[in-house]
Amino acid sequence: MVLRTAVFSSFLFLLVNCGQEPQPSNIGTLDLEEIDPSMLYNRHCVDCHGSKGDLGLMGASSLVTSSMSLTDRIEIITHGSKNGKMRPFGQEHYGGLSDAEIEAVAEYIETLRQ
Ligand code: HEC
Repeated sequence: MVLRTAVFSSFLFLLVNCGQEPQPSNIGTLDLEEIDPSMLYNRHCVDCHGSKGDLGLMGASSLVTSSMSLTDRIEIITHGSKNGKMRPFGQEHYGGLSDAEIEAVAEYIETLRQ
């Protein structure tokens, strides 16, 4: 009886473990779908730029009148401003945003333009 229980539980253990095998391709897809640029903006950018982009706190330039290109926006968000007033958000600077998140928020702020 004890032996049968042991065999049965190791069978269950195997079953459970098989079910938890991670699928790398699925994980990637999920991450992309979970990016909500307005949420990222509200969490990381409103303190200085404001919900409409024109608050201008801490010397922040207006995102409403900004004509900066997408490439330059990705650059400043990733590495921070040259004058050091805006911190870097890129992961290589331990800023906490992935490349995909930076691109998403850089595209999102274009919707704040007039
Ligand atoms: C601590 C305040 C602060 C936070 C938080 C902040 N910024 Fe900035 N941002 C600034 C300042 C200051 C400047 C102007 C830098 C300069 O004069 O070079 C700026 C400039 C910019 C510019 C350049 C606009 C232009 O046309 O010159 C962009 C784009 C930008 N920020 C996007 C963002 C995004 C997106 C976030 C959130 C991920 C963010 N910022 C968070 C302070 C901040």
